[in-house]
Order: sequence, then C-alpha cells, then structure tokens
Amino acid sequence: MSDNQASLTAGGTTLDMPVKSGTIGPDVIDIRKLYGQTGMFTYDPGFTSTASCDSALTYIDGDEGVLLHRGYPIGQLAEHSSFMEVSYLLLNGELPSSQELADFSRTITRHTMLHEQLATFYRGFRRDAHPMAIMCGVVGALSAFYHDSTDISDPQHRKISSHRLIAKMPTIAAMAYKYSVGQPFVYPDNKLSYTGNFLKMTFGVPAEEYEVIPAVEKAMDRIFILHADHEQNASTSTVRLAGSSGANPFACIAAGIACLWGPAHGGANEAALNMLKEIGTPDRIQHYIDRAKDKNDPFRLMGFGHRVYKNYDPRATVMQSTVREVFAALNVQDPLFETALRLEEIALSDPYFAEKKLFPNVDFYSGIILSAIGFPTTMFTVLFALARTVGWVAQWNEMISDPGQKIGRPRQLYTGPTQRDYVPLSER
Ligand code: SDX
Repeated sequence: MSDNQASLTAGGTTLDMPVKSGTIGPDVIDIRKLYGQTGMFTYDPGFTSTASCDSALTYIDGDEGVLLHRGYPIGQLAEHSSFMEVSYLLLNGELPSSQELADFSRTITRHTMLHEQLATFYRGFRRDAHPMAIMCGVVGALSAFYHDSTDISDPQHRKISSHRLIAKMPTIAAMAYKYSVGQPFVYPDNKLSYTGNFLKMTFGVPAEEYEVIPAVEKAMDRIFILHADHEQNASTSTVRLAGSSGANPFACIAAGIACLWGPAHGGANEAALNMLKEIGTPDRIQHYIDRAKDKNDPFRLMGFGHRVYKNYDPRATVMQSTVREVFAALNVQDPLFETALRLEEIALSDPYFAEKKLFPNVDFYSGIILSAIGFPTTMFTVLFALARTVGWVAQWNEMISDPGQKIGRPRQLYTGPTQRDYVPLSER
C-alpha cells in the first residue's frame, strides 16, 4: 500500500482507497468506490469527518484559529481591505487592480435597485414579521424575475446573477427593516459606497439628509468582511446541495438564508445578544455558566463553540476590537460589553469550556456592535446573510463550474420496519 493510499477491510473485502492532498490542511480518503466494492456506506451524521468537495476559496485551521480567503489571512483583510475588494477576491481568486476594483464596484452599484414589483411583496407580510422570514421570501421571489440570466451553464449568466444577488441584498435587507418600523423605503444612492449606501437605505428618511459616519461605515464594512465566507458551513452546504440539482440561483440563496437563520448557525448573533440581555449584570454570569454545563439543561452559551474552531475564532478577535472603535465613534457605552468580556473571561477559565475547546465565535460580540449602530436584534442575522451572500455565490459558481460536479444525494442507515403487508382498516 503506497503512502498516498488508505486500506479498509470491511465485510471480508480489503479496499485500497486513494488519499488526496490539498495545498494545505488534512488529506482526504477518496471513498467514492466504497459502496460499489463493499456494499457499505460510510456513516457520518453532521459530517464531522466528511469533506464534501474540493474548494479553493477559504481555508480554516480550527486548531490554530486560522482563516484564509484565497490565501489571505482574515486579520489582514479586515485591517487593509474592503468588502467590495474581498468580494472580488472570493469571486475571481486574486486581489483586484485599482481599475478592476473600480469596475467591479460600479457594476455592483448599478444593480442595487429592485424591480418595483418586488416592493409589493413586503406589503404581504405582517409588520412584525421577522426580517429573516421576509429575506427568505423576497430573495426566493427574485427567481420569478430576471429570466434573462437563468442558464446556469453559461458563465456570463452566472456572473450577472451573482452580481445581482450581491448588489440587491443590502436593498432587500434595508427594505425589510424599513417595513418593520413603518418607514418608507429609501432608494439606493449610487454616489455612496456599497456599505454607505446600505446605511443610508436603512437609517435615512426622505424628510432629511442622511450623513454616513465614516467610522461606522468602516466598522460595518469590516463586519461584512468578517462574515463573507467560511468554507463548507451549514448554509453554504445548503446552497451547494440546492445548486447541485441545477436550481435557480436566487432560489438556492433563499435556501441558504433559511439554513443560516437557525440559532446554532447564523441566528446565534441574535441569540447571543438576547442571552447577554437576559444575563444582564456580571454577578449573574456564573448561574448561566452552570446552566450551560448542565447536561439536563438545553441552555448553551450562544456565540460560544464551533464545529471547526477549537481555538479562538479569529473573527471574534477583530469583532471585539471593533466594539471599542464603534463606541468611541458614536460616544456610546453598553454595559453588556463588560458583561460579555467578563463572561468570556469566566468561561475560558472554566475546565468545562477549556476541555471542550469552546471559545467565542464570530457571533459573540457582533450583536453589541450592531446594537450600538442602531440595528434591532431581529436584523442581526439579516446582516450576516447580506455579507455571506458573496460567499454563497462564490461557492455556488465554484461548484457549477466544476466539470466533475454531480447532484448531491447522500444515503442513510435505515432503521425502520422491514417489509410488511398492508392491513385493511376493518382489521386494525
Ligand atoms: C456560526 O460552521 C461554520 O463555519 C459556522 C459559522 C460561519 O461563519 O458560517 O462560523 C457561523 O454558525 C458560528 C456558530 C454559532 N452558533 C453558536 O454560537 C451556538 C452555540 N454553539 C453551539 O450550539 C455549538 O458550539 C455549535 C453548534 C456551534 C457547534 O456544535 P458541534 O460542533 O456540533 O459541537 P457539539 O454540539 O457536539 O458540542 C460539543 C460539546 C457538547 O458537549 P458533549 O455532548 O460532548 O458533552 O460541547 C458542548 C456540547 O454540549 N457545547 C456547548 C456549547 N457548544 C458546544 N456547551 C455549552 N455552550 C455552548 N455554546
């Protein structure tokens, strides 16, 4: 058996399987012939040991707390780049020249308006509808428009659909917020940056001028960078699986939004701030730590733990420093930040969290910043979805353009009844 092979003996059959290596990170055992040659499946609920695809977009080293986008560390991108530049990088593989960035930003800017018919979709929702419910509905409804670019085998169609999604998510998100507070929708302003335009559409009103605060624009843009992509997380895997059947790209992104909404995933940022509000003051922290450790209590520390990171989430590090920047720019304070810092300190000194390698993740501090900027907690996951859209479309493009791409169709371990005959109602 050569070094780049793994051997498995199952059911009296010994199978040599190729071991594939990436550029960095764990090797993979190619098990595609396993069922054909042994009649057995692998078994990996939650995919804790399964690589679902090849990808060149994002690399995570969970033990070291490393996150790279096309090779560039997230800390460097957060400090030096912009969300538009990171979006270009994820989509195209290289950092853009000045001209490429200007052209890309202009293209995105000119797609920020929605078809006017889409505004009527909002009026079908109750005013108190959760904005994520609205996002699922309106983004899915985009698949009822744009029939000029739905041939996903055409790279140009994929490109225009990707640009439309990246461009329209801020408009859709801002409209969801406006609808919830009963204010009129604010149209995009092409003179502003991607993020500045989003802030104006969200917080501006027709009755007066809206001035974008540069420090807030910078912090918001950085938050978008931190959420742009993250390897094969649950919502990205959802988009890939939906896309693998050849489904409409807008419908695939709507599926990703639905998955992201869950509190175990993107919904954790809303849940984390609600948890901090429930804890309130630092003297109540230990009670919640004890609950999180109690096997009989379903309570978990929201914003803590991660399937991949068994070290500090590098995004949480940047997020924590951004809290201080935003507080200074807006001259605000929030006692929940001190509660969050104290909670982190107590949790990380507790053997339970240390042994299970549970650290703050991207969702632990984000809500404190978003709340300071003025977003209600119900908008937090909407902002996550807005930013993650570029990762979803980049991963979708990578999958569709892979010549070896197949429809995703996992198998199962069947535990139901063996075959039995129908019993007529009169005999039951
Ligand atoms: C995101 O995948 C991604 O990349 C996601 C994401 C992205 O950018 O796309 O990074 C975004 O979703 C971040 C995660 C946000 N979710 C939360 O903050 C919710 C709280 N965290 C957890 O529910 C949990 O940590 C998960 C869901 C994030 C990860 O769960 P896993 O990998 O399935 O781990 P697990 O549930 O098997 O937990 C391992 C152990 C368990 O104890 P034992 O059964 O082994 O005794 O750790 C415990 C868990 O009970 N545990 C926690 C805990 N998280 C895990 N205990 C208390 N509080 C927690 N937060």
